[in-house]
Amino acid sequence: MERVRKAVIPAAGMGTRFLPATKAIPKEMLPIVDKPTIQYVVEEAVQSGFEDIIFVTGQGKNEIEDHFDYDYRLEHRLKEQGKEDLLRIVRNISEMIAVSSIRQKKPLGLGHAVQITEAFTGDEPFGVFLGDDIVVHKVPCMKQLLTVYDRYQASVVAVEEVPWESVSRFGLVAVEPVESKDPRLLRIRDMVEKPPREEAPSNLAIIGRYILMPGVFQALKKTTPGAGGEIQLTDGLRGLMELEPVYAYRFEGTRYDVGNKLEYLIATVEFALRREDLQEEFRDYLRSLKL
Ligand code: UTP
Repeated sequence: MERVRKAVIPAAGMGTRFLPATKAIPKEMLPIVDKPTIQYVVEEAVQSGFEDIIFVTGQGKNEIEDHFDYDYRLEHRLKEQGKEDLLRIVRNISEMIAVSSIRQKKPLGLGHAVQITEAFTGDEPFGVFLGDDIVVHKVPCMKQLLTVYDRYQASVVAVEEVPWESVSRFGLVAVEPVESKDPRLLRIRDMVEKPPREEAPSNLAIIGRYILMPGVFQALKKTTPGAGGEIQLTDGLRGLMELEPVYAYRFEGTRYDVGNKLEYLIATVEFALRREDLQEEFRDYLRSLKL
């Protein structure tokens, strides 16, 4: 059985929902408390056993690569100042995992972003992590998908129920049960990206974690622009589904779409409340608010 070792992190989107913050700063670098969102995602990849990451970046996204690279000047300064704790934090980020990047010259869509990583992933199955979805659970979301992959050696996407009012913001799946001890596992029959509510096949939405078989590249080559005029990964997966099974897994955990302002704020508050060094004072402050 082929292990899933390589991770693709598409991060070339324009982040228009977060303007003006994202005019000169990649949205993946916006911090939740004191860590850029993309670091939470990379940590999930490390915890799930991945060995190699490729970021798909675009114009103005150099900070992402810099963040995971060594910064000798900063390290030297921290050493001089005797700030060993900070030095360790900064160095650990650079040593976490091997990273490389590829440039998506035009934001032609998530499907296109994945398509251009073919030379990196080759003919191996690979993981895709979207940089603006953070999932919190004691078993990382991607690790949950890997358990399904280990059993079926097939593509699997993470899904969750979303309110019907918001279905048209998501890729949605129509599913059928699978004979399995795990009721969270489903087989996808159909999928559609950002449909009007009345055309949604369900309220089960694809979120930003996927394990994909290499056949997806063939399918993506045949995919034409869809919703929003972009080459959609969902449409590519639909093509793949005609050739081989694709599974959906209703993962366990809390997901924050931090590309969305309200969810970004919620994530910030909840993450701060989990932090030992902040929780007490922050909770006192929240309690003092006359809401
Ligand atoms: P989103 O639609 O959430 O990202 O794409 P966006 O376009 O940056 O955000 P808004 O809607 O304008 O605020 C989902 C993921 O796909 C990546 C994004 O970086 C994000 O991680 N993406 C999207 C690409 O890498 N390339 C693209 O052409 C489009």
